[in-house]
Amino acid sequence: MENLFRLVDHEDFLSRRCIWVNGPVIVGAGPSGLATAACLRDQGVPFVMLERAECIASLWQKRTYDRLKLHLPKQFCQLPKLPFPEDFPEYPTKRQFIQYLESYAEKFEINPRFNECVQSARYDETSGLWRVKTASSAGSTKTEFEYICRWLVVATGENAERVMPDIEGLADFGGEVIHACDYKSGKKYKGKKVLVVGCGNSGMELSLDLSNHNASPSMVVRSSVHVLPREILGKSTFELATLMMKWLPLWLVDKILLILAWFILGNTESYGLKRPSMGPLALKNTMGKTPVLDIGALKKIRSGDINVVPGIKRISCGQAELINGEKLDIDAIVLATGYRSNVPSWLQESEFFSENGFPKAPFPHGWKGNAGLYAVGFTRRGLSGASSDAMRIAQDIGKVWKEETKQQKKRTTACHRRCISQF
Ligand SMILES: Cc1cc2nc3c(=O)[nH]c(=O)nc-3n(C[C@H](O)[C@H](O)[C@H](O)COP(=O)(O)OP(=O)(O)OC[C@H]3O[C@@H](n4cnc5c(N)ncnc54)[C@H](O)[C@@H]3O)c2cc1C
Ligand SMILES: NC(=O)c1ccc[n+]([C@@H]2O[C@H](COP(=O)([O-])OP(=O)(O)OC[C@H]3O[C@@H](n4cnc5c(N)ncnc54)[C@H](OP(=O)(O)O)[C@@H]3O)[C@@H](O)[C@H]2O)c1
Repeated sequence: MENLFRLVDHEDFLSRRCIWVNGPVIVGAGPSGLATAACLRDQGVPFVMLERAECIASLWQKRTYDRLKLHLPKQFCQLPKLPFPEDFPEYPTKRQFIQYLESYAEKFEINPRFNECVQSARYDETSGLWRVKTASSAGSTKTEFEYICRWLVVATGENAERVMPDIEGLADFGGEVIHACDYKSGKKYKGKKVLVVGCGNSGMELSLDLSNHNASPSMVVRSSVHVLPREILGKSTFELATLMMKWLPLWLVDKILLILAWFILGNTESYGLKRPSMGPLALKNTMGKTPVLDIGALKKIRSGDINVVPGIKRISCGQAELINGEKLDIDAIVLATGYRSNVPSWLQESEFFSENGFPKAPFPHGWKGNAGLYAVGFTRRGLSGASSDAMRIAQDIGKVWKEETKQQKKRTTACHRRCISQF
């Protein structure tokens, strides 16, 4: 009790509302946060979920393009305790996925506190509690809260912020420059020459979309990329790889995948898509670089509808100069240059998370830190990785919660609750 009073310093106490949370605080209402919340619900553990946007799954609702579909079959993308509806196709659309997530939140009575961006979170050694400060952006008045809790679950995602490249002359371009997260459809680019910077899944798919809308995309491939077919002999490549990994070493699975890809897609290097020296799964595991699952872009590259170009030297007014000296006239630029975690910007901790905003411990150890800190959805294993993290975290917290509530029933004091409002 005395400790708890000490941790609320005088100045903060006057400027922010302080909230004691019975149970964990989950930061982020994307699929990872929702999965954790549902599993905690199942364990009977109360929680508070904080979300900077005004909706759940803001990445999917606000920062993705219209034609997006899940790249993996639905059984690998569903969250714990609620399968996708049977009438959903093998690869649900973004709309269907959002609809599923909304029904998920409703079923498990998950009501995030929206428009609350976590500004900082730190562990207070004296009290043994986490202090999570937020700024609420709803309406014209800025409200600040401080949540005090025993457990902190980081669910802000691997793709929390856009990566903006530092390209010489970009500011002088004069035309439209957007990041892939603001791209919706190629409709408005009809007849335009668009430079797509980046050849990950976003760059490939936006180039395809632009071409389908009769724009002329040039896609920048500055280094190398693994392109794999989405399916091999009617089976999802991901599923096949997962199956093979049960029996074979990773290097061999990589070799088999590349041979199969060569048979199905041909020699992608001949179109300017140089393959990395490391195999696709090894590269994903060591560097976190996702292979591209082709859903039609390669055909457009072969036909010349998507122009593959090397790295950019500089941009000038209406033009891109490439490293091979070629100059391209362009009307618009789409930066499909990826995303990054934002954890280092708010979490004051350096033991569990590294500077790049991912847990330091490799899979499968990166879900639990010290002092009640957890991470969900940072294993670079997409939605299925997030689901398994969520189940582990809820079980771990649930075990302690059950033991302590059993003991608390015997004692009857609830000293914390007297001084601070409670959830
Ligand atoms: C275009 C695109 C397509 C993808 N397609 C697939 C796919 O088909 N299959 C797959 O498995 N994965 C896919 N992914 C990866 C994707 O990141 C995951 O599927 C999934 O969204 C991860 O969920 P998450 O909850 O961990 O992160 P997110 O979905 O990013 O959710 C994190 C939430 O945290 C909130 N947040 C962030 N910072 C703060 C803060 N400081 N305070 C409060 N709230 C905060 C965000 O607003 C967001 O709502 C795709 C990613 C992209 C960019
Ligand atoms: N339907 C789907 O499932 C789907 C669709 C889209 C995205 N996603 C997922 O979303 C995540 C992010 O994908 P993403 O494609 O947006 O990002 P990404 O995989 O990180 O790819 C970023 C690309 O931008 C390039 N790049 C970065 N800076 C550059 C620069 N200055 N000049 C030229 N190129 C530059 C990178 O090249 P280098 O390799 O040389 O660094 C890379 O090709 C991935 O996990 C992906 O699988 C999934």
